[in-house]
Amino acid sequence: MGAGIAQVAARAGFAVVMHDVTEEFLARGIKAIDKSLQRDVDKQRLEPDEKDAIIARIKPTTDTTFLREAFIVVEAATEDLAVKTEIFKSLDGIVSAGAIFASNTSSISITKLGSVTQRAERVIGMHFMNPVPVMKLVEIIRGAATSDRTYEEVRSLTERLGKIPLECHDSPGFVSNRVLMPMINEAIFTLYEGVASRESIDGIMKLGMNHPMGPLALADFIGLDVCLAIMNVLHDGFGDSKYRPCPLLKRYVDAGWLGKKSGRGFYEY
Ligand code: 3HC
Repeated sequence: MGAGIAQVAARAGFAVVMHDVTEEFLARGIKAIDKSLQRDVDKQRLEPDEKDAIIARIKPTTDTTFLREAFIVVEAATEDLAVKTEIFKSLDGIVSAGAIFASNTSSISITKLGSVTQRAERVIGMHFMNPVPVMKLVEIIRGAATSDRTYEEVRSLTERLGKIPLECHDSPGFVSNRVLMPMINEAIFTLYEGVASRESIDGIMKLGMNHPMGPLALADFIGLDVCLAIMNVLHDGFGDSKYRPCPLLKRYVDAGWLGKKSGRGFYEY
């Protein structure tokens, strides 16, 4: 998702520093951006030189010191509280004090992330949807300490990115994943219990509810590890057994079948 966020920001005219932990991950990100923009070139919605200019606005780097001058940092690391808090703590000492820290977390508390920094009023959730270049929504999450000024700046930035900001307060899973993920988890239960085949489950939801993708295909697309992490946040956060992750989801993640990104999930890729 980080690559998608870098792409939409660069396309909107911003200079972007795209940071990752290895050169290999950066190269993968640039390749995804190139492929995504090429679709628009092929459909004659983007000139080839505009595509080159967008990519030239992105500086891929493994060196966090390039983030020093940023006015906003959007974190899109693994969905793991320890990883995200470590990033926020270390960037707090590097990035200028007035800069905004936004997290693209799917469900982790913005209030908790803010509390590990010296700038909790400048910390906010900016939750993009997959695929980032296509989906219009950015769910904007206010932590307990997020200031109105931070919210207003992020709301207006989101509009400059060509997206639609919708606001919510900090709560496990926010709105999007609190509603979406139990539906996906329930679809996995129907597969687990042998109620129907994967094709039937997805077909029923696609044809019956007009969803663009069935829930199992969507889970593969999101990443089964991400789905499990979100269900765990809901389960722990609400202490309600209705959010228990399906054993089949756990088993797939244990097997390394993480969906599209690993070549196998509920479907084979
Ligand atoms: N980059 C750029 N454009 C892309 C793209 C990408 N990665 N993927 C698809 N597109 C564009 C295509 O070019 C096409 O554009 P056009 O209609 O203007 O010509 C359009 O999107 C539709 O693509 P396709 O025709 O190839 O395929 P589909 O019609 O099947 O659409 C889809 C693909 C947009 C992914 C659609 O299936 C969909 O909307 N699926 C549901 C996505 C969804 O629910 N996302 C939210 C997930 S939850 C989440 O992200 C939150 C997280 O916290 C878990």
